[in-house]
Amino acid sequence: MWNDLKAMAEACEGRRIEDLFADETRAQDFSLTACGMLFDFSKTQLDEGIWEALLEMADKAAVPAKRDAMFAGEKINETEGRAVLHTALRNLDARPVLVDGHDVMPAVLDTLDRMERLARDIRDSDVTDVVNIGIGGSDLGPAMAYLALAPYADGPRCHFVSNVDGADIADTLKGCDPERTVFIVASKTFTTIETMTNAQTAKGWLARHGVDDSGKFIALSSNVEKAGAFGIPEDRVLGFEDWVGGRYSMWGPIGLSLMIAIGPEDFRAFLQGGQEMDRHFVEAPLAENLPVALALVGMWHNQVLGYATRAVLPYDNRLARLPAYLQQLEMESNGKGVRMDGISLSYDSGPIVWGEPGTNGQHAFYQLIHQGTRVVPCEFLIAARGHEPELQHHHDLLIANCLAQSEALMRGRDLEEARDRMAGKFEGEELERQARHRVFPGNRPSTTLIYPLLDPATLGRIIALYEHRVFVEGVILGINSYDQWGVELGKELATALGPLVSGDQPVDGKDGSTAQLLRFVHTQKAG
Ligand code: F6P
Repeated sequence: MWNDLKAMAEACEGRRIEDLFADETRAQDFSLTACGMLFDFSKTQLDEGIWEALLEMADKAAVPAKRDAMFAGEKINETEGRAVLHTALRNLDARPVLVDGHDVMPAVLDTLDRMERLARDIRDSDVTDVVNIGIGGSDLGPAMAYLALAPYADGPRCHFVSNVDGADIADTLKGCDPERTVFIVASKTFTTIETMTNAQTAKGWLARHGVDDSGKFIALSSNVEKAGAFGIPEDRVLGFEDWVGGRYSMWGPIGLSLMIAIGPEDFRAFLQGGQEMDRHFVEAPLAENLPVALALVGMWHNQVLGYATRAVLPYDNRLARLPAYLQQLEMESNGKGVRMDGISLSYDSGPIVWGEPGTNGQHAFYQLIHQGTRVVPCEFLIAARGHEPELQHHHDLLIANCLAQSEALMRGRDLEEARDRMAGKFEGEELERQARHRVFPGNRPSTTLIYPLLDPATLGRIIALYEHRVFVEGVILGINSYDQWGVELGKELATALGPLVSGDQPVDGKDGSTAQLLRFVHTQKAG
């Protein structure tokens, strides 16, 4: 399968993407429309034959059957023996979803109801600030969405404290009034050291200001017992089950801060958008399926052509945290070295995902994207309309820049054109030298996802789209996208290093580098 695709890649080496547009229907043939969004992947090397082969690969990997198994609550997270059912959190029409023969929907809807009551109470109270304390999936989703949906945020201010670096909580609390601040401790396990440390610091901060902390904390966790031990009573704990992975959890209780900010109605619109994408993913044939297309184009670039990274470039300033969110979603899910059966992968795992909003990135790393020696497939996202009609000229410029970048990446500029442009200024060898610096190789692939407006439903559609894309990639790679053992070793070593940092244990047994760094710390502390 991979070999056939690699042979196809070799066969089209040197072919110019631009020339493929001689086929007048190319743009339509290599675009999909679903849930009001248009995904254009025509500015890539894909042709009919490659697209067919990629679709066949998805079919052979049994993507439809595995998708149905996920939605049916089968335990597809085999290394942890868990179902994968974040989709149940946005299953607003309450179609039964069975886990071990038991319908989970009544409990899901009951929790949503409790979230809404709590959110309304807080929005109607004199609370001015809500601080979400959580990390990874207990932070990135709501933090990303809070920024994305700023035009809808008419509730208290929300802050997101994640880092164990005391700077994070110290800087956040500086602007908060202890009497009018509520803390949300978001941790599926309620054991994560960063979150527990920050939560204790928050408690200490309230105590220092003489504020009684009862009623000041809410827990979002599967671990009611541990939340209770921290001092949060059960009626202020919003739980979720082990079939909701951390990086897929913003649709349920982990989204509480977002719900408080934008209100329960807009939060439901966000869920509806996600549910709409679920329906599309389940119902559309592979060849018309948006998540499948994103996955296949990504795999063509990463596993077949060997482009190690993927730039996510939202021309939507409010999606500034989307690349960080997608880093966890994609890299924690598909950054695996073995297949589900424990055999090492013989091809690359998921790509390195990175990015920044446009146009800012243009004035920073786009130099490398256009003229560097490595090819970076770019994924552009843009809204046809902005939220600031009075600033329409800004939005027009934004769109022009986004389209200009994908065009520039594809077209490039050859030596002859560069020479012509410099001809008046230089001549002879100097003209040649100057012209060569102004050559753009072009033929660099990009895709564009365009949507009407970044409203709650659209954000829901986009996030569900990316979730399902990760799923499809994982199925084709044959890996488990739903565990994350790779984060464990560092956690264990950090725990063991604690007493060495504090000086309670000698550094001698450590490797030379670690011991040297610890001694530097000790000298500075003493100093
Ligand atoms: O360390 C990785 C991780 O387990 C993520 O998968 C998760 O989103 C994050 O830590 C936070 O975990 P918790 O919600 O249990 O605090």
